[in-house]
Amino acid sequence: MSSEKLYPKGYQLIHPVSEKKNVRNELLHAILSDHTKEQEESLDTDIFDVMGRRRSTRKFDPKPIEEWKIKKILAAADTAPTAGNFQGFEIFHVKNQKMKEKLVKAANNQPYVNSPLVLVYCKNPSRVKLDFPITMLKKFAIQDATLAASYSQLAATALGLSSIWIGMINEKKVAQIIKTKLIPSSILCIGYPTEKKIPKSRRNLSELIHVLE
Ligand SMILES: Cc1cc2nc3c(=O)[nH]c(=O)nc-3n(C[C@H](O)[C@H](O)[C@H](O)COP(=O)(O)O)c2cc1C
Repeated sequence: MSSEKLYPKGYQLIHPVSEKKNVRNELLHAILSDHTKEQEESLDTDIFDVMGRRRSTRKFDPKPIEEWKIKKILAAADTAPTAGNFQGFEIFHVKNQKMKEKLVKAANNQPYVNSPLVLVYCKNPSRVKLDFPITMLKKFAIQDATLAASYSQLAATALGLSSIWIGMINEKKVAQIIKTKLIPSSILCIGYPTEKKIPKSRRNLSELIHVLE
């Protein structure tokens, strides 16, 4: 299986993968672990540290994101659990500058949508081949797309990047701009932050958790 079949054109691996049969997701895992010793130094592999440090950013340095980091952010999305493993979502990697500018407008004029890396996560309930009513398949697809974006967001943090989750979108306009019939669920905007911010406060866990005995 060639990597071109699984990932869009241009996503080349640094270390070529041997295409062994019966090895599940070999390419996916290769991408997740594909980095040089030097690149490894900029990685945070402690998941709890990554979760604790993640902070939304709305001011990005215009410097482009390295391809190896983009590959990992996309591969991370593909590791997320999905309903029945049917992967009821699609990702649109928007490189086109005019489209990015249009997406700003479709997202209630939020200027930071025009960021170095723009990923639109869409629901695709038609992929979910489970024998349930379409309302349930749509519920699954939105959860699939949301989880995938969330995995990408954590991966971005682990890679020393920052992001902003954009939920305030006009779905029809976004779909028109990225030329799809699918319904978008969120836009993830990623880049290098211009300043480092400490995490926002949260309520106490005792208020959040309802223990039922
Ligand atoms: C479902 C959802 C929708 C969001 N929509 C937007 C949005 O449209 N614009 C924006 O600036 N931030 C948006 N955010 C980001 C939140 O404002 C941010 O995550 C929240 O303030 C907590 O800050 P933190 O991410 O730094 O912890 C959204 C986040 C989520 C999870």
